[in-house]
Amino acid sequence: MTTTIQVNDTILKELEETARAMVAPGKGILAADESNPTIKKRFDTINVESTEENRRFYREMLFTTHGLEDHISGVILFDETLRQSAVNGTPFSKILSDKGIIPGIKVDKGLTTIPNTLGEKVTQGLDGLSERLEEYRELGARFAKWRAVIQIGNHQPSQLSLALNAHSLARYAAICQSKGLVPIIEPEILINGNHTLDRCERVAQWTLDRVFEELTLQRVFLEGMILKPSMVTPGDICPEQVAPKIVAQSSIKIFKRSVPAAVPGIAFLSGGQSSTLATIHLNAMNKNKHLPWELSFSYGRALQEDCLAAWKGEKANKGLAQKVLFHRAKCNGAARFGKYFSEIENQ
Ligand code: 13P
Repeated sequence: MTTTIQVNDTILKELEETARAMVAPGKGILAADESNPTIKKRFDTINVESTEENRRFYREMLFTTHGLEDHISGVILFDETLRQSAVNGTPFSKILSDKGIIPGIKVDKGLTTIPNTLGEKVTQGLDGLSERLEEYRELGARFAKWRAVIQIGNHQPSQLSLALNAHSLARYAAICQSKGLVPIIEPEILINGNHTLDRCERVAQWTLDRVFEELTLQRVFLEGMILKPSMVTPGDICPEQVAPKIVAQSSIKIFKRSVPAAVPGIAFLSGGQSSTLATIHLNAMNKNKHLPWELSFSYGRALQEDCLAAWKGEKANKGLAQKVLFHRAKCNGAARFGKYFSEIENQ
């Protein structure tokens, strides 16, 4: 006997409401889902040992920042963090949801090399995903994240890497929706390289077209998902860098071609841009009115870097570090309306 898995109308409605709340006007997502090897790299920059207690303390500091909910709609957590609690015993997911911030969870299991390519990667983690999502929902998560990585090079990306990554992003998304979690679909086009803006535009369009083709094939409910792409920029070592206005124009041009209006929001990753440049670019994009989707942020480094530098692993710096995080969230909140000015930055 075969069983049909059909997401019912109540779940579809909840998915759409959650997706809309994730990209509520003036707000964006804090990506605090660094895996243990990645958070170790971040802690290394401030000479802090990556122990479980230091990671817990750091995340508690982020989540208990006063007023965070004014500019942050959701937080992406790592498996370990979703199971952790504040020092007073309250689980982090409850601390967040009590503030009106939606807890989310990174569910991919990192990258592996694709055979028969020049070292291109595909994301792992589909095995057992359905069961893991059931547990994550019990623990309070209402959305999930899966990051695919596309690199631009002489013969990259290959058709093969785009096909595999688009397929697994869509598989993940369909499984998430069947378990009542909104999928954040993240095809990250790496900024590393000397490629031009024009080349990035072509790769971005090709990637997004492949991703939406697969999402449609696998019947993903577009109203109940969030796209998390890179901005369209020249490579970080391309000699021809361009003004923020041009990044905004190119990005919007490509998204208009490839992202259906049914998608509630596009929440950009920062991808190695400095904190302020990530804000400036988002602001430039939001100066365009009458777009079909919300243009928001889902930043990791661009929200946390200044905060980490202020904290330095010292308990005494907690208040200062929280102020710094709040400040970056506020600047990006202003950029959601195209109303970020140097006066706000320098406040
Ligand atoms: P960055 O903003 O640091 O690129 O991180 C966002 C993210 O969640 C990557 O998966």
